[in-house]
Amino acid sequence: MKKDLVIAPSILSADFADLGAEIRAIDVGGCDWVHFDVMDGSFVPPITIGDNVCKAIRSHTEKPIDVHLMVNHPDTQVEAFAKAGADIITVHQEACTHLERTLQLIRSLGKKAGVSLNPATPVSTIKNVLHCTDLVLLMSVNPGYGGQSYIHAVTDKIREARQMLDDAGCDAWLEVDGGVNAATIAEVTGAGADAVVAGSAVYNKPDYAGAMAELRDLAE
Ligand code: DX5
Ligand code: ZN
Repeated sequence: MKKDLVIAPSILSADFADLGAEIRAIDVGGCDWVHFDVMDGSFVPPITIGDNVCKAIRSHTEKPIDVHLMVNHPDTQVEAFAKAGADIITVHQEACTHLERTLQLIRSLGKKAGVSLNPATPVSTIKNVLHCTDLVLLMSVNPGYGGQSYIHAVTDKIREARQMLDDAGCDAWLEVDGGVNAATIAEVTGAGADAVVAGSAVYNKPDYAGAMAELRDLAE
């Protein structure tokens, strides 16, 4: 069942030279989670930030840190992020040979286990791991960069995933990441998403609180 909307600004679009202040600004501005994009230069071309940065920002917010691992061999990173204070750790289905084991590993560390799908990966590929899934993250852009345009073909996938979760009685969050902004949020939440990542739609605006409030108003 769809839950109350979660807004998770992605710090990928924040000013990395002033990250503590950027985290505090979305915290007081009303974010629900802090979305933390980890890229390894292999699964996706860029390299971003690792567990040491997660540890560094932990003291700047009490909101959940929603770690999105866009990395190959994510099993090697899970424990470090758990220790660094992550609350949700999401791995890509495409990067996990033994996905069930990886999700169980995340749960065994006391964290919420998320699984993400690239736009080209069918929803059916995670049907058999829902028993150990706390969050499904559908990419609505090809991962690697902030500020890309929403891929409208993903909207049907959101509906399909919503149906699959409801049919299975799975109460995992259904989160959508990429190109979510004032023009697309109604389409995303109307299709059944209950959590949205918003990078450029928050951090590229002068007023973060206002940008988040606008997204909340426009959501269905
Ligand atoms: C893309 C990242 C996203 C990204 C979203 O690979 O996973 O979290 O920062 O940025 P926007 O909201 O600007 O599309
Ligand atoms: Zn992300």
